[in-house]
Amino acid sequence: MRFIIIPGLLALVASSALADVVYNVVGYPDTEKGAFGVMINNKVTALTTTEATFPLWSANVVGANPSSGYRYVKLNDTGDVIDKEKFLRRIATNKARNTPNEFFKRQNTFATYPALPQVYPSVRPKTSKAFDDTQIATIHLTADPAVFADMVANPLDTERKAIKASFRFINADTVYNAAEVKLKVSGHGSRKFKKLSLRVKFDEDKNETFFDRPIIKLRSSSSEPTFIREKLYIDNLNAIGARTTQAAWVRVYVNNKPFGFHLLVEDIETPFLRGTFHDGAALKDKELGSLYQMGSHVIGQEGTMIYTGPLTANYNPEVYSNKNLGSANTKEEPMAQFIAFMKDLQEYDPTLANGLKFWNSRLDVNQFLKSMVMEYLTGAWDGSWWKGNNYFMYFHPTEARWTFIPTDFDSTFSDGNLADVAVPYKQFAASRLRRQGKDHPLVSKLIFKNKEINKEFEKILGTTVKQVFNPTVMNPRIAAYEKFIEAEAAWDFSLDRSKNPGKDPKYTIDTFHKSLTGPVTGITYGVKPWISYRATDVPKQLKK
Ligand SMILES: *[C@@H]1O[C@H](CO)[C@@H](O)[C@H](O)[C@H]1NC(C)=O
Ligand SMILES: *[C@@H]1O[C@H](CO)[C@@H](O)[C@H](O)[C@H]1NC(C)=O
Repeated sequence: MRFIIIPGLLALVASSALADVVYNVVGYPDTEKGAFGVMINNKVTALTTTEATFPLWSANVVGANPSSGYRYVKLNDTGDVIDKEKFLRRIATNKARNTPNEFFKRQNTFATYPALPQVYPSVRPKTSKAFDDTQIATIHLTADPAVFADMVANPLDTERKAIKASFRFINADTVYNAAEVKLKVSGHGSRKFKKLSLRVKFDEDKNETFFDRPIIKLRSSSSEPTFIREKLYIDNLNAIGARTTQAAWVRVYVNNKPFGFHLLVEDIETPFLRGTFHDGAALKDKELGSLYQMGSHVIGQEGTMIYTGPLTANYNPEVYSNKNLGSANTKEEPMAQFIAFMKDLQEYDPTLANGLKFWNSRLDVNQFLKSMVMEYLTGAWDGSWWKGNNYFMYFHPTEARWTFIPTDFDSTFSDGNLADVAVPYKQFAASRLRRQGKDHPLVSKLIFKNKEINKEFEKILGTTVKQVFNPTVMNPRIAAYEKFIEAEAAWDFSLDRSKNPGKDPKYTIDTFHKSLTGPVTGITYGVKPWISYRATDVPKQLKK
C-alpha cells in the first residue's frame, strides 16, 4: 500500500512546487535606484515596476511554492536588502497564482468589520471601487514640485486655481491612472492646519471618471486624532437609510513623498447628485435640480434658512451659495427657488395639523429627520442644527421637493463645545431660539414645534439609539477600525509637516487610542463614552 500512496504524494508536492506566483507590493524605495524584492526561504527575488504602475513592484517567481511563507524586502541601489518585513506572509490559498497588491510592512491588506444593522432600508448608491473600505488604497499624485509646494504654502488662498497633477490609485486588485487631474486644497477650517485636505477633479470629457466618482476630496482629519469619527458618522447614516457620500481611508503620496492618511469621500457636486439621487443616470447638469451649499464661515452668520427678502442680493453668497442652477432659476436670480422654500418656511404655522403631509410635499422629511438625528446624536456642533453649517439643499427634480444633504463630519462625537451639545435634544433646539437672529426654523418649526413631525423625529431617534447608536453595536466596529488603521495613524503622525503654515495639534498614537476612550487635549469626550452617554440619555429623554 505504501508504494501506491507515495507516488501520489510526490506528484502533489511536485505540482505545487512548480507553480509560478506573481508577488506584488506597493512601496517607495529610499533612493532613486532602490527597489523591492520578495524573500522566500531566504532567497530574494527582485521585483520590478513600470512608469504606469509605480510604486507597485511585481515579479513572477518561477517555481515558487505557494505554501511557502514570504516577506517583502526593501533593496538599495546595489540590490542589497536594507529593510525587511518582520512578519511572514502566506498566500491565501495554494491555488492562488498571484498575491493581491500588498503594502510594504502592512500586515493585513484586508480588514473585516462587524456588520452594522440596516435599521431602515438602504439608500446607498451603487458601489464604487473608490469606496472599498475593507482595504487602504494608495493614492500616488505627481505635480510640478514648485507649483505644488507653493499651493501647500498658501492654503488660505481659496481663490487659487486648481493645479495640474497626475493621479494613480492602487488597491489590492486595481491600478487606476488618470494622466491629468485638477488638484487643489479643499475645506475651510481644515486650511488652518499644517495637514491639508485635497480635492481632486477628474476629466470627465476624457472618460476619466474614477469609478463613477469624478470629484473627490481627501479629507485630512486634522482636528481629530482617531480618524474614525467621520467614518463612523457615515456608517450610521448608511445604517439608518440616509443619503450621504461613502468613504474609505487612503494613504496619499505626492511626488513620491508621504502626504498623509486621509479619508476619501465624494465632493457634493453634480456627479454626487447623479450617483446618490438618480441611480447614476446620465443627466446633464441642467436636468438636475438646483443645489445650494450653506456655510457659516463668515463670523456671526449662519445658513439659518431664515427668509430675509425675495432677492438673491438679500442673501450673503458666502453663507448661501448656488452650486447648480437647475431649471427654476435664472443666472440673475440663482437663489430664487430656494428663497421660495424659505418663504414657505417663514409663513408656516407649526401648530397646524397634517404637518408631515404639508412638508413631505416640499421636503424629503425622512432624510431631513435622519440627518438631524445624527447631528444630535453625535453632538455635531459644526453642523446645520447647531451652526447653520456643513449642509446642502438639493431640489430633487423628479420628486419635485427638497432634500437635505449633510456633509463634513469631523467635528462630531463631542469633538468640542461640550456645554452646547451635551444636553437633551429639546434644550439643543431651544437654545437656537434664544439666540437673536439665529433661529433655525427648519429645526424649530418642524422638529421642535410641530407635534406630528416631532413624534416622527423621536421615533427615528429612539430606534437609531436602540438598534445602532449604542456601545453594543458600535464598540466592536470601533475596535476593528482601531486595529486596522492604528499603524496608518502612527505613520501619519510621524510625518514632518513643520515647514507648512498653520496649526499642528501634535497628535500621537497615544491620543489616537485615548480619544476613543476618553478626553484628550481639546476634545472633551472620547468616542466610546460619548456614544454610551447618548445611548443612555436619549431613552430617558423620550420617556418624559
Ligand atoms: C547597500 O547596502 C549594502 C549592505 O548594507 C552596502 O554594503 C552597500 O554599500 C549599499 N549600497 C549602496 C549603494 O548604498
Ligand atoms: C467615453 O465613453 C463613451 C461611452 O463609453 C464613448 O462613447 C466616448 O467615445 C468616450 N470618449 C472618449 C473621449 O474616450
